[in-house]
Amino acid sequence: MQQYEYADTLSAEEYCLLRKAVGWPELPVEQAREGLRHSSFIASCRLGTAIVGAVRIIWDHGYIAYFSDLMVLPACQKQGIGKNLAQRAIEWVKAQRRPDWKIKIVLIATAGNEGFYKKLGFTERPCGAMGAGMDLWCM
Ligand SMILES: CC(C)(COP(=O)(O)OP(=O)(O)OC[C@H]1O[C@@H](n2cnc3c(N)ncnc32)[C@H](O)[C@@H]1OP(=O)(O)O)[C@@H](O)C(=O)NCCC(=O)NCCS
Repeated sequence: MQQYEYADTLSAEEYCLLRKAVGWPELPVEQAREGLRHSSFIASCRLGTAIVGAVRIIWDHGYIAYFSDLMVLPACQKQGIGKNLAQRAIEWVKAQRRPDWKIKIVLIATAGNEGFYKKLGFTERPCGAMGAGMDLWCM
């Protein structure tokens, strides 16, 4: 029986396939390739040669790391793959700290998945002095 295997590679085509599978807006492959090329960390999960999940981190080499594009194929969800990928990303960020450094990982949860991230230790916003997360598409 084939096992899920984790790696640090992800092609633009695989990334686009995952985006489509989870119902996110599609991107030109070339734009996806540039985004991946400039990512600080990538983790992927495959079953044989088939991509089933991925995540990436964009880090400024200082105190902010953006946790992005955690995706697991719908047919492979609820088997611990998302958690495994997320934990790999968090551990990678932790490993970048120098003595006396702290790094904040930020993300925007998709609706209904806040609980998934809370289990990993993330704080849901708004909270205290921290307002809601916000974004803006430049089109
Ligand atoms: C969100 C997503 C990545 C979760 O991946 P997954 O592989 O199904 O999740 P896991 O099986 O690893 O779940 C890990 C834990 O989180 C819990 N969990 C999963 N989804 C959850 C949710 N929506 N709310 C609360 N808890 C959730 C699981 O029950 C499990 O709990 P346990 O560790 O106590 O057993 C996946 O549903 C997905 O790809 N969704 C579409 C894309 C998306 O919205 N990504 C998030 C972008 S912010």
